[in-house]
Amino acid sequence: MKYAIETFDLTKRYGDFLAVDALNLRIDKNSIFGFLGPNGAGKTTTIKMLTCLIPPTSGTAEVAGYDIKKSPNEVRQKIGMVPQLVSLYGDLTARENAELCADYYGMPSELKESRIDELMELVDIKYAENKFVKQMSGGQKQKVSVVASLVHQPEILFLDEPTIGLDPTTKSVLWDLIEELNENGHTIILCSHDMYEVDLLCDHVGIIDQGLLAAFDTPQGLKDDILGDQKQTDDLNISEIMTEMEEKSEADLLSSFHDLKGSILEDEISNAREISIMISNLDDDMMQILESLPFVFEVTPHPSGRVVMNISNSEDAVTAVISVIIKNNGNITSISTQDPSLEDVFMKVTAKKEMGGE
Ligand SMILES: Nc1ncnc2c1ncn2[C@@H]1O[C@H](COP(=O)(O)OP(=O)(O)O)[C@@H](O)[C@H]1O
Ligand SMILES: [Mg+2]
Repeated sequence: MKYAIETFDLTKRYGDFLAVDALNLRIDKNSIFGFLGPNGAGKTTTIKMLTCLIPPTSGTAEVAGYDIKKSPNEVRQKIGMVPQLVSLYGDLTARENAELCADYYGMPSELKESRIDELMELVDIKYAENKFVKQMSGGQKQKVSVVASLVHQPEILFLDEPTIGLDPTTKSVLWDLIEELNENGHTIILCSHDMYEVDLLCDHVGIIDQGLLAAFDTPQGLKDDILGDQKQTDDLNISEIMTEMEEKSEADLLSSFHDLKGSILEDEISNAREISIMISNLDDDMMQILESLPFVFEVTPHPSGRVVMNISNSEDAVTAVISVIIKNNGNITSISTQDPSLEDVFMKVTAKKEMGGE
């Protein structure tokens, strides 16, 4: 088995409605995979097919080396699932729920009890083991759900929006747990709307939109892609501007830059990125120079000497801003740039489709 999960044109229709459209996905063994997408994109439907809760309309998938159509029972033995809506028995205690799951998988009783103890301690719910689930808080239920899903030591764990509605502390307990499970060799499939969570935990991310896989990469790869895309839309030739700067007088330049700035496209400005530079000898002259640069759209000075600028998102804009400052005897003490977030990637990838695709 090469991958933990491999899908082959995995498709689900509900009547006429195509919920998952010929999905081809490969998830590495022992990785944490983040599954993102707007509401109704097909995430839960995909997970339900991969966990053999519903059959695909066409196509198939291999999960832990077994075909979901031919060997659903083998697949079930290899996977654990923390569903979007906690599905525990309210009239049973936390421990009884976990025991029930262990019995379902036919675990021998000595192993069962020690495994439940171990997991309850791991997620810190042992103190409430004899509490009825219906009397528990959302976070406590979620922890019991995690224990129940892990009792049979599944190779692959599916978590469908597991931290939704949890307080920050419980969230971070779950994040630690996910990392720990992964270190112990489990593959994790994490559906989430929490971009911070996905960025923090996941090795690879798939973005599904209207049943189609719209993007698949590492979180950093997706973010770098956005920068790459935007570079291509860049109309400003910054190196030309820089050469011009070498040749012309300062006064001439400032007025010609002023004209150029007026003609810059909306598009250019909306693709701007932020750079923040600390200049220890920042003065009005320097501010005026920075403001006049055509590839600098907005300049906000702070009393500390830090200037936050929105600059053109092109390869050489950062270099150009820095060299202009140095050329004018500015003393730079620190620089930081604001790179795109996974949220930016999500918005971009899913917006494309709504506009009719590209
Ligand atoms: N049992 C069902 N019958 C009909 N349509 C469904 C059913 N389950 C889900 N859908 C539809 O399929 C689409 C994908 O749903 P789902 O997989 O739950 O999305 P997600 O988990 O990404 O929010 C939605 O438009 C949803 O309304
Ligand atoms: Mg869902």
